[in-house]
Amino acid sequence: MSVTALVGAQWGDEGKGKIIDILASKANVVVRAQGGNNAGHTVVADGVTYKLRLIPSGILYDGTTCVIGNGVVVNPKALIGEMNEIKASGKSVDRLKIDARAHIVLPYHIELDGLSEKLRGGSDIGTTKRGIGPCYMDKAERSGIRMCDFIRPEVFREKLKSNLVLKNKILTDVYGGEPLDFDEIYNEYVGYAAALAPHVCDASVLVYDAIKAGKNVLFEGAQGALLDIDVGTYPFVTSSHPTAGGFCIGAGIGPTLIDECLGVCKSYTTRVGKGPFPTELDDEIGDLIRNKGGEYGTVTGRARRCGWLDLVILRFAARVNGLTSLAVNKLDTLMGIGKLKVCVGYEKGGSVIRDFPVDISELADCKPIYVELDGWDEDISKVKRYEDLPLSTKNYIDFIEENVGVKVAMVGVGPSREQNLLK
Ligand code: GDP
Ligand code: IMO
Ligand code: MG
Repeated sequence: MSVTALVGAQWGDEGKGKIIDILASKANVVVRAQGGNNAGHTVVADGVTYKLRLIPSGILYDGTTCVIGNGVVVNPKALIGEMNEIKASGKSVDRLKIDARAHIVLPYHIELDGLSEKLRGGSDIGTTKRGIGPCYMDKAERSGIRMCDFIRPEVFREKLKSNLVLKNKILTDVYGGEPLDFDEIYNEYVGYAAALAPHVCDASVLVYDAIKAGKNVLFEGAQGALLDIDVGTYPFVTSSHPTAGGFCIGAGIGPTLIDECLGVCKSYTTRVGKGPFPTELDDEIGDLIRNKGGEYGTVTGRARRCGWLDLVILRFAARVNGLTSLAVNKLDTLMGIGKLKVCVGYEKGGSVIRDFPVDISELADCKPIYVELDGWDEDISKVKRYEDLPLSTKNYIDFIEENVGVKVAMVGVGPSREQNLLK
């Protein structure tokens, strides 16, 4: 495996958790480098379903070191809750390392996320309300509290005190909300800091040394390319870089250290939250996909918007990430739907658009150009070898490969580790 970066190639929830868990069996180190507990990665291992938000999906293997890099925003309460869940399932979290530079999500970030969404009214982003955006705002504004501050009680006390003065003014005077109490937050969070302190390190050094020692390192992407704050469907994006470049920034390593970039997608498209979605199906086929695919958010439980596969999006993901291969999940969900539509380009004002538009107001006017492919009626969830898939399923995969220009390395026919076929 050497050094592999794994990214979501659509709007998130592509089934990254499952693929990371599979690849993690051969990894020495698994690294998260962006986002926070807005992510929800489902791993089905030995019949048990794990929902991981902050902890890298490699945690289920005894020998794997799991790293939360400097680019991640860490909600300490959520992280400790997740560590306790893992421990309760009989696994150890001793191998979890957290970079000292990672920023801390505090209660005021969560309050501000909710209040700013409310103030936006109908123009809200549809965030997960986990305080992710406000925490990255503080990071960019240079008032954030980092893990290295957090684990030193006196430093944490000072920084929290001064931040809370301004945050309480914003909460009350701007949003008409309630102020937060310093003692309450400090007394609760100082305990979390003590629990996390043994895990804190310089993760950039750890990851670099592992790569230099020839270890297998897997970078675990959260979210997806279209949610990237720079190249995604702004403003309907998250506040970090879920594209391959985000690993360099968020893990403190250089681009020449990464060998491969695997994009994970579904055999159709989904999106949670607001924003234009050209191939969205607002009909019974969309409902069918949602129900068959269990398309409800791991973090918020929201129904995911569903639509046909969009190859304009996958070509965009191939470009912005430099994808070297693709994993296509959830082929089993499309079983029995009949003819399958695949979007190969957009039509706007009589012109054909092949590249994903920069401006979402343009995207909103784009009409998908579809090619219709044969579907399959067979239950493929028990198929063990790629070559044993129905011809129409293999044709669907070939069509993706040809149109995206990236080889498909694996396909998913179900949620468990075993339901992943190598091509
Ligand atoms: P992530 O955020 O990219 O890790 O994806 P999520 O875990 O949020 O959502 C993907 C969902 O699809 C999870 O419930 C997975 O267990 C499930 N899943 C992954 N791959 C497959 C597959 O090939 N077939 C089916 N039916 N479900 C899958
Ligand atoms: P995983 O890792 C799908 C979406 C939210 C919202 C937008 C901004 O499970 O694929 P935020 O709370 O980040 O400020 O919300 O981004 N979003 C995701 N959608 N999967 C995710 O993560 C997401 N993380 C954020 O729904 O539209
Ligand atoms: Mg998810």
